[in-house]
Amino acid sequence: MTRIFSGVKPTGHLTLGNYLGAVRRWAEVDQHRAEALFCIVDLHALTVDHDPGRVRRLSRQAATLLLASGLDPEQCTVFVQSHVDEHARLSYLLECVATDGEMRRMIQYKEKAALERKRGGSVRLSLLTYPVLMAADILAYGTDEVPVGDDQTQHVELTRDLAVRFNQRYGHTFVVPRATRPEVAARVMNLQEPTSKMGKSDDVGPGVVYLLDEPETVRKKIMRAVTDSGQDVEYDPEERPGVSNLLEILAACQGSDPATLSGAYTSYGALKKDTADAVVELLGPVQDRHKQLCADPSYVEGVLRDGARRAREMARPTVDSAYEAIGLLAPSAG
Ligand code: TYM
Repeated sequence: MTRIFSGVKPTGHLTLGNYLGAVRRWAEVDQHRAEALFCIVDLHALTVDHDPGRVRRLSRQAATLLLASGLDPEQCTVFVQSHVDEHARLSYLLECVATDGEMRRMIQYKEKAALERKRGGSVRLSLLTYPVLMAADILAYGTDEVPVGDDQTQHVELTRDLAVRFNQRYGHTFVVPRATRPEVAARVMNLQEPTSKMGKSDDVGPGVVYLLDEPETVRKKIMRAVTDSGQDVEYDPEERPGVSNLLEILAACQGSDPATLSGAYTSYGALKKDTADAVVELLGPVQDRHKQLCADPSYVEGVLRDGARRAREMARPTVDSAYEAIGLLAPSAG
């Protein structure tokens, strides 16, 4: 059976980008067609300046939101990365296969490191090695497919390279995974800055729609979205990033196609209004379910506990065989 793994990092409140690019597909499609694991990758949240209490709160919130979005513990495994030691165990072995040059070429590293330096801070070593831990997340489970948004493509490519290299050097150990991306809304852009990704950690502004935003806030943010000069509603992400972003969001909500949809509009105002309505309607049921789940924190804790147990059982054999293949002496039994 196909194995699917994906994750979300608790560095901020989940956004419409996370939902349309990844989470919605996990819930609607992926968990039903494969053996799927979805992980709150909390170790990754420690790669930049962080507040320990906030990371804990965001991890709990992300888990609750994944369940509220429709992930069903009967259909898939939902767990927290730091509850399963195999991720960190495997990461070190993969560091011994990856090169520093490879790490320095990662776009997200370059962008985030530049931002840290600009703020006058220092860059944590873990920010550089982050993609190796991500590769470990994926490879530990014999993953075939990794459903992600566009921004993670380079990291999944690196994961493939590391798997192939390890297998060539030390014998076949890892499945070589591939990224899958949604047809529409693989990169939802910031509503105020439509040439930048809508990111949960790097922006707390009017350009980011959060899954838990009140309907009025969602409407306000979308109605105030930056559009482009010109009047025509045309789908052209290069020349008209603002309008194209709205068309992508609306198309993703309706299950239609942004280019076709553009023909139905003659004004930016009407497009914004329909997009706002569609997003409010999309998020309503998730928010209702989130509220119910918040009233029952022991249910969420139970799901995460079971999930970690299942995940550990799945990861252990692969990680043990990697330890052996690379030349480490197995501990003697008894
Ligand atoms: P993260 O937490 O930034 O994002 C979680 C998922 O949401 C997608 N996404 C978007 N999709 C469309 N438009 C956007 N604006 C947008 N913003 C985010 C991301 O592509 C991702 O699929 N490194 C990963 C977490 C991770 C992971 C893994 C993912 C760690 N280990 C193993 C898959 C497999 C990250 O930072 O995602």
